[in-house]
Amino acid sequence: SRTVARGEDGVATVGGVKVTELAERFGTPAYVMDEADFRARCRAWREAFGRDADVFYAGKAFLSRAIVRWLTEEGLNLDVCSEGELATALAAGMPADRIALHGNNKSAREIERAVEAGVGRIVLDSFQEIARVAGIAERLGRRQRVQIRVTVGVEAHTHEFIATAHEDQKFGIALAEGQAAEAVRRAIKLDSLELIGIHSHIGSQIFDTSGFEVAAHRVVGLLKDVRDEHGVELPEIDLGGGLGIAYTSDDDPREPAEIAAALREIVTRECAAAGLAVPRISVEPGRAIVGPTAFTLYEVGTVKPLRGLRTYVSVDGGMSDNIRTALYDAEYSVGLVSRASTAEPMLTRVVGKHCESGDIVVKDAFLPADVAPGDLIAVPATGAYCRSMASNYNHALRPPVLAVHEGQARVIVRRETEEDLLRLDIG
Ligand code: LLP
Repeated sequence: SRTVARGEDGVATVGGVKVTELAERFGTPAYVMDEADFRARCRAWREAFGRDADVFYAGKAFLSRAIVRWLTEEGLNLDVCSEGELATALAAGMPADRIALHGNNKSAREIERAVEAGVGRIVLDSFQEIARVAGIAERLGRRQRVQIRVTVGVEAHTHEFIATAHEDQKFGIALAEGQAAEAVRRAIKLDSLELIGIHSHIGSQIFDTSGFEVAAHRVVGLLKDVRDEHGVELPEIDLGGGLGIAYTSDDDPREPAEIAAALREIVTRECAAAGLAVPRISVEPGRAIVGPTAFTLYEVGTVKPLRGLRTYVSVDGGMSDNIRTALYDAEYSVGLVSRASTAEPMLTRVVGKHCESGDIVVKDAFLPADVAPGDLIAVPATGAYCRSMASNYNHALRPPVLAVHEGQARVIVRRETEEDLLRLDIG
C-alpha cells in the first residue's frame, strides 16, 4: 500500500499506525486496509472516466458496509453478483439505481429482490434469464433496465479459471452464430425490460489493453447490427473489469487514465466508422481498486530450515485467508515489518497452518535469515479476493479487516469467534 513507511526501528507504519500496535490491539492474522489509498483509487478511476462514463466497483473483490459508504461518497457505482452482496449494498445505503446485478445463475429470489429494490441494471447472462427477469419484472409491475452480457471470443492472457470471454466457459451469450443478436431480438420485444446496452467482461488480472480493444470492437459491431435491424441505438456499453495489479515487481499494471483513454479512443473510433453516436461507457474494476489497498499481517510461528532446499516459515493463517496461491498459482511478496534486520536474505516459503502441503501463501520469498517466531510479516496486495474468498477450513476463524486512516485504526469487519462457528452448528 502506498502509505506504508518504516521508522528507524524498522517497524512499518500504515496510515500513521504502527503494525506492531495493530497486532497488539487486534491480533493476527488481520487484513489491514488503508482508507485514504482506497478512496484515492476510487477518485482516480472516477476522474479518468469522467462524467460521461460510470465506474462500477466489483463487490466480489471485497465488500463490507464501510466499503459501500466510501464508494457512495466517492461517486462510484457498485456491481453485485449475489443476494448477499445486494443486501450489504442496500444496508449500507448505496442508492439502488447505482447498483448492477450480475451472475450466470441468479435465483428467482435474487432477481425479485433486485427488481423490487429498483437496481439500476440487471446484466442478463442467458436466454432463460431474459425470460425469467422479464417475467418477474412484469409480475412486479416494473420495467427493469437490463444489459445483455455477450461473449466476444477473446482469449485474455490470464489464468484459465479467471478468463471469461473465450468460447468454452459458462458466462454470457456468444456473439458467434448470431446468438447475441437473437438475445437482443428477444429482449427488445419484452415490455417489462428496457434494454440499455451490451456488456462484456473478458477476464481478470489482465495487463495489456488489446483484449479490451477487440472486445470494444466486437461490442460496437453488435450495436451497429442492432441499429440496422431494429432502428435503435443502444445507449450504453459496459466493458467489465479485469485490470491487473502488481503482486510482484514483475507485474506492470496500467493506470486507470491510460485504460480510460484507450477505451474511449477505440469506442469513439469504432462508433464513428459505424455511424453510431458514442454510447455511455461503464467499467467494473474490483481488484485494481481494492487489491493494492490492503495487506495481510501475520505472526511467524515456526521456522523450519530444510537443508539444500529452503526454509519454511509458518504463519498463523494460510489458505483459509488467502486461497489465491493454491488456486491460481498466484504470486505474492512478503516483508518483515516488526523490526529492522541486517541479516542476509534467505529463500523461504511462507506457509499457513492448515492440514495440507498446498497451504502456501508465498511460494518463493526472500526474508532476512534471522526471521524468527514472534516476528510480524506482511503480504502486500491482498485487498482483493482474499477476505472475500476466505473459508473456515480446519475451523479457522476468518480474520478481521482493519481500516487505518490518519493515525487511527478501527475494525470494519470483526474477527470470527468460536461462537460464530458454533452458532451455525445446531447439533
Ligand atoms: N465484472 C465482472 C462481470 C466480473 O466477473 C468480474 C470478476 C469483475 C467485473 C471484476 O474483475 P477485476 O477487476 O476484479 O479483475 N477470484 C479471482 C478473480 C475472479 C474474478 C471474477 N470476476 C482471483 O482471485 O483472481
